[in-house]
Amino acid sequence: MGINSPLNRKLRMGLVGGGQGSFIGRVHSIAACLDNRAVVTAGALSSNPERSKASAPDYDIDPARAYGSYQEMLDAEAKLPEGERIDFVSVTTPNHTHFEIAKAAVEAGFHVVCDKPMTFDLAQAESLLESVQKSNVVFAVTHNYTGYPLIRQAREMILGGELGEINAIRSQYIQGWLRTSLEAEDQKQAAWRTDPSKSGAAGAFGDIATHAYNLGRYMTGLLPDSVSCSLKSFVEGRRLDDYGTAVIRYENGGLGTVTASQISHGRENDFEIEIDGTKGSLRWRQENPNEMIVRRNGSPHQIYTRDPGGSHMNGSGAAACRLPAGHPEAFFEAFANIYAAVFDAIAKRAEGGPVEKRDTIYPNVFDGVEGMYFIQQCVESNIQNSAWLPLKHEAARR
Ligand SMILES: NC(=O)c1ccc[n+]([C@@H]2O[C@H](COP(=O)([O-])OP(=O)(O)OC[C@H]3O[C@@H](n4cnc5c(N)ncnc54)[C@H](O)[C@@H]3O)[C@@H](O)[C@H]2O)c1
Repeated sequence: MGINSPLNRKLRMGLVGGGQGSFIGRVHSIAACLDNRAVVTAGALSSNPERSKASAPDYDIDPARAYGSYQEMLDAEAKLPEGERIDFVSVTTPNHTHFEIAKAAVEAGFHVVCDKPMTFDLAQAESLLESVQKSNVVFAVTHNYTGYPLIRQAREMILGGELGEINAIRSQYIQGWLRTSLEAEDQKQAAWRTDPSKSGAAGAFGDIATHAYNLGRYMTGLLPDSVSCSLKSFVEGRRLDDYGTAVIRYENGGLGTVTASQISHGRENDFEIEIDGTKGSLRWRQENPNEMIVRRNGSPHQIYTRDPGGSHMNGSGAAACRLPAGHPEAFFEAFANIYAAVFDAIAKRAEGGPVEKRDTIYPNVFDGVEGMYFIQQCVESNIQNSAWLPLKHEAARR
């Protein structure tokens, strides 16, 4: 069987963002191409047209398909014959630009992989959901932590009842890189993340708490009911939160906490999730992602390693592995698992028939809406002295 069967060819990526000096665009290109199922064909790589074109050789993009802007890319690519034009657009730009780029791409009929948070605010997210619903394109949001094999393993275990009823989710994403005012030095990634006109209503909460919240939802499927949140900006002069905690009540009576920090000395990307059920608990940390601890009172603690051949692995966990146990897999591979699922969906659409939008293994536009609602309600709760606010959105109903 050829790759991306029945297409039997590589899918063509149009990358937006990822220009020189940027971070996540390069990761998208590596993740998309890791399994030899895609090629970076076109790009609008920077907000600056000259830098965009100058960055194209870094991706081996033909100069004729190195565009000065995303509009130019979408217009030109849509006019190319079907056998040449890009198949999907990856949106890897700062938050305030996601909506216009993603919406234009969807409306032009391209599949989209959009980074998080999906949009600048909830209204944009709801509008994008509407556009995706009207279309027949695949739309993913790169909450890439959902792609780790042991996260997929844990999800199948939890949804299959192995931990019993879920009582608690503790999810925390702790960084230290914004301990000082890097934005005052105009550091590229810090500058837009701490600027409310580019980042959105939240800082650390939009940037990393959205991942922490999403992962708990993804792993347990628990439906949120309400939220109370406290946000702080500890670095003098900073306009958005750099620390915060949200407490979440779930509809089943469970409780969750989401903590995000960007000001904790020495902490890198310490994203950890712990889940307590009536029959067992588990813990996973992204800085040691090939291990997960499962505990049950009265029994020895179990360390699950990422081992595709291991009898402890279930179908979802094993299917997300590429290497035998002991050869570390991490960020790129997990990211590539999102792309792999997107490519499966694109290939399936090529067989005819509608695209599944809601019930997907990759985070989708509904998850994107939920993320924006979470940010909005957390910011509003903080303004109202941590008042309890609803966290029920239609997008969470599956
Ligand atoms: N999923 C993850 O793990 C993860 C990690 C980091 C960042 N992100 C998200 O990815 C996005 C980008 O973050 P980053 O840290 O890579 O930012 P960055 O500042 O390093 O890079 C952004 C790039 O986008 C380009 N750009 C800006 N506006 C553009 C436009 N209109 N058209 C084309 N290019 C444009 C910039 O020139 C730059 O090359 C953000 O939304 C962020 O939240 C996600």
